[in-house]
Amino acid sequence: MNSDTRYTRTDQDVREVNRTMWSYGEYRHVADLLRPGAVELVGRLRPGPGTRHLDVATGNGNVALLSAQRGADVQGLDLTDEFFPEARERAERAGVTIGLHRCDAEDLPFADASFDLVTSTYGVQFAPGHDAAAGEMARVCKTGGRVGMCNWTSRSWTAHFQEILSSYFPSPAGHQGQPMLWGDEGYLAELFGPDFEIIAERRHLWYPFADAEALVAFFESCFGPCIAARTSISPPGRWAELRAEMVEMTRSFVRSDDRGTGVPVEYLLVVARKKGDRS
Ligand SMILES: C[S@@+](CC[C@H](N)C(=O)[O-])C[C@H]1O[C@@H](n2cnc3c(N)ncnc32)[C@H](O)[C@@H]1O
Repeated sequence: MNSDTRYTRTDQDVREVNRTMWSYGEYRHVADLLRPGAVELVGRLRPGPGTRHLDVATGNGNVALLSAQRGADVQGLDLTDEFFPEARERAERAGVTIGLHRCDAEDLPFADASFDLVTSTYGVQFAPGHDAAAGEMARVCKTGGRVGMCNWTSRSWTAHFQEILSSYFPSPAGHQGQPMLWGDEGYLAELFGPDFEIIAERRHLWYPFADAEALVAFFESCFGPCIAARTSISPPGRWAELRAEMVEMTRSFVRSDDRGTGVPVEYLLVVARKKGDRS
């Protein structure tokens, strides 16, 4: 339980690199794009007064705030506490209170079976240790409780975006597998094991941008991992090459329909119930 002595130096380094990477840029603009996923998930799970809810990798609190507004008792956690002042401001504006904890999804400072609901939107899938992160979500979830997630899938725009980014950088040490594996229902069944009954459905977010260039320019200026890549790539001239690949890839995802022009981004909406009687 949250004892840093459990980590090797490499684990600590990976955590610090991840935390720094997420903290770059004005993340709140990205959070605005993700918010409809939080609305969808919270609408499915319907937390309310009496629900003890933990939101893992909460960012600036998209899910946590919606749940607290429905009356749940909500704790949010994230590796990147730079997002917490904004989460607090949003909570204050909404007239609710949420607990915020700086910690790693792979090592939760909460007792076994202490939550009715454990969620993560586009977050836990980025923890390097999949077994550890899933194990922790399962451990703190009560019997009869639920784990709810929105996870990018391997065919989503996000997966292609991440693939291009990672093709220019060496694989970070300590990663168990690709984050997008969490967008596969079969993989989740293996990760969470037979104690969980999983219902999953493919859904899409809509990123409204006039064209591929505008979408890439947005992520390049607001999204921490992308900013980290842009500022650390060597030699710096390679950024133009990487960026051109991103624009080209994004072109194949751009659609125009009654919503206007934009990119539909696929994710897996997951509700996993921990089997057994509610205690
Ligand atoms: C794409 S953001 C999603 C944030 C939020 N759930 C939302 O939907 O707006 C991913 C978040 O995961 C957090 N994160 C990444 N790895 C983590 C880890 N190992 N433990 C806790 N949080 C982590 C990042 O700091 C970031 O806030």
